[in-house]
Amino acid sequence: MSGKLAGRTALITGAASGIGAGIARLFAAEGARVALVDRDKVPEPPSGALCFEGDVADAALAEKVVGEMTKAWGRVDCVVTAAGMSIGKKLLDTTEEEWERVFAVNARGTFLWVKAALGPMIAGGGGSVVTIASQIPLSGGRGSASYASSKGAVIAMTRSVALDYAADKVRANAIAPGAIDTPFLHRSFTRAPDPDAARQRSLDRHPLGRFGRVEEVAKAALFLASDDSSFTTGSVLMVEGGWNAA
Ligand SMILES: NC(=O)c1ccc[n+]([C@@H]2O[C@H](COP(=O)([O-])OP(=O)(O)OC[C@H]3O[C@@H](n4cnc5c(N)ncnc54)[C@H](O)[C@@H]3O)[C@@H](O)[C@H]2O)c1
Repeated sequence: MSGKLAGRTALITGAASGIGAGIARLFAAEGARVALVDRDKVPEPPSGALCFEGDVADAALAEKVVGEMTKAWGRVDCVVTAAGMSIGKKLLDTTEEEWERVFAVNARGTFLWVKAALGPMIAGGGGSVVTIASQIPLSGGRGSASYASSKGAVIAMTRSVALDYAADKVRANAIAPGAIDTPFLHRSFTRAPDPDAARQRSLDRHPLGRFGRVEEVAKAALFLASDDSSFTTGSVLMVEGGWNAA
């Protein structure tokens, strides 16, 4: 099979919806063999995909999936951590349980999968770690204390991995999407007291004047997973319509 990821394997979390699903489709179209993880069943996975259902905060699941990938394909070239959640609350309104759950999914749910993938990646001569962060920790964002903090942790973790494993030929980069047209985004508006106003405020914060598309984030992930980004590591690639420049 030809394509920018021909002969490569990629593990993608959050692959049943939105950004993770778009990345799974594009990576498979570019020749990768993909292992897909989500708490929901992945609808219409690419042919030959390995699919797993479960919680990304489950360490045993991460080990199991990487074990199955290695057994089936002998290597792990790329890991993309797209599973994520938000609760849309200010700090004073956030319970300890909510804070811990957001960190369990976004921060621990990145740590565990990167950790599980790194061993076989290094053994195979290197690879690419692509984490999905957010535009919010870089700019601040209202009503998202736990989410912004957990995504800040994802960026810091990604940079640490980039430094610690550069000598092993592992590159690690984060993507900071702006508001992307997915179920996640629409859920965040419906939580607001006035969903239409919240939607308009979000649109107005993007100089490009629209929400992003899943395919636009998937192309950024393809760049970071492929040799096209061979001199890029420890970076945060903004795919946010100018949000942070505004
Ligand atoms: N859509 C946006 O505007 C936006 C902006 C910035 C960052 N992000 C980030 O992009 C990533 C993907 O979001 P999306 O917009 O595609 O959302 P989405 O809701 O469409 O997809 C997220 C997927 O993650 C899965 N998931 C959530 N928690 C899980 C868990 N504990 N275990 C296993 N799977 C779990 C969901 O089932 C879902 O399939 C998230 O990390 C999100 O924080 C999204």
